[in-house]
Amino acid sequence: MTRTSGIAKEQTVVNTLSARRRHPLAAIVVLFVALGLVGAAYATLGSARARASASTAVTPDQLDKGKKLFLSACSSCHGMNGEGQQGSGPSLIGVGGAAVDFQVGTGRMPAQQIGPQAVSKPRAYTQDEIDALAAYIAALGTGPAIPDASQYDASGGDVARGGVLFRTNCAQCHNGVGAGGALTDGKFAPSLRTTDPKYIFEAMATGPQNMPVFGDKVMSAQDKKDIIAYLMSTRTEPNSGGLDLGSLGPVSEGLFIWVFGLGLLIVFACWIGAHTAKASRARVAHYEATTGKDAANNE
Ligand code: HEC
Ligand code: HEC
Repeated sequence: MTRTSGIAKEQTVVNTLSARRRHPLAAIVVLFVALGLVGAAYATLGSARARASASTAVTPDQLDKGKKLFLSACSSCHGMNGEGQQGSGPSLIGVGGAAVDFQVGTGRMPAQQIGPQAVSKPRAYTQDEIDALAAYIAALGTGPAIPDASQYDASGGDVARGGVLFRTNCAQCHNGVGAGGALTDGKFAPSLRTTDPKYIFEAMATGPQNMPVFGDKVMSAQDKKDIIAYLMSTRTEPNSGGLDLGSLGPVSEGLFIWVFGLGLLIVFACWIGAHTAKASRARVAHYEATTGKDAANNE
């Protein structure tokens, strides 16, 4: 009884709605509701974006400081306006703040000499100075910005998925667990065992040297987080396979077996050779021949 009345009530609600649907004001009401929703969404997203840019707001002082630092330390190779200089340094227009933070933060820049690859050294500038340099270069042309902590926070990443992404996109150069490896022409993919998560993110976003750029279209924000989470996990995971020999794969494992394994076998073979019945008879004969004594009676 109650059930039928419930259904009947629903029926009347539906009936009234479908009747009002044809009311001349219905279209206007729907339009206002939709506009209200779009407005609310825009207000929330817009204020979030404003907050994000406020935290990275650039002051004229900072730009000025960045320019001065650039002119004194970088322009000799990268040109007075960052336009690049044939044979000494590439153009920095459009590389973005992330590239500067990565290159200067890891001590690669300022490069000391032109080699196959800029090597990382202890950094030459404070984070404040690096931020000023980055702000100056970023103002030359849009490029990837320095990420904020939420973008490279490994706790939001999926380690297993990151492992798959890493093996597909990075392991051919950096080895399966990020131990690094040699490339052609004196270049190398460095070990990722101690790299700060921020620099892992920036390396993917800017593609230093021979490394491809993994921009947001190729590798989403979540993909990057997963990869960072995977790399962090390789640092803390106990090695259940025993001695990892630097995780360098077949080369170090082969060398280990070649030197220690074969060495041990050779030592063992010599020991067997020295302890056969024939060898001890020969020793006895030699003893008797040189001393004239009977080995059995020791006289
Ligand atoms: C001795 C010359 C030299 C000096 C000085 C130097 N650079 Fe560089 N820079 C290079 C070369 C060469 C490369 C590219 C080769 C490489 O990455 O290994 C490079 C690459 C870069 C990149 C990467 C560009 C990209 O496409 O991702 C950035 C950013 C950069 N330099 C910033 C700086 C800043 C900032 C300074 C000053 C603090 C500086 N460099 C000083 C030679 C120099
Ligand atoms: C084609 C080979 C290649 C591939 C693929 C590659 N890299 Fe690299 N990577 C390099 C080279 C070369 C460098 C050194 C660049 C330099 O010193 O200027 C580098 C540097 C780095 C660094 C900086 C390490 C440090 O401590 O300074 C990080 C982090 C990194 N790569 C992460 C990755 C990740 C993550 C991937 C996959 C998404 C990846 N790379 C894919 C070649 C590669």
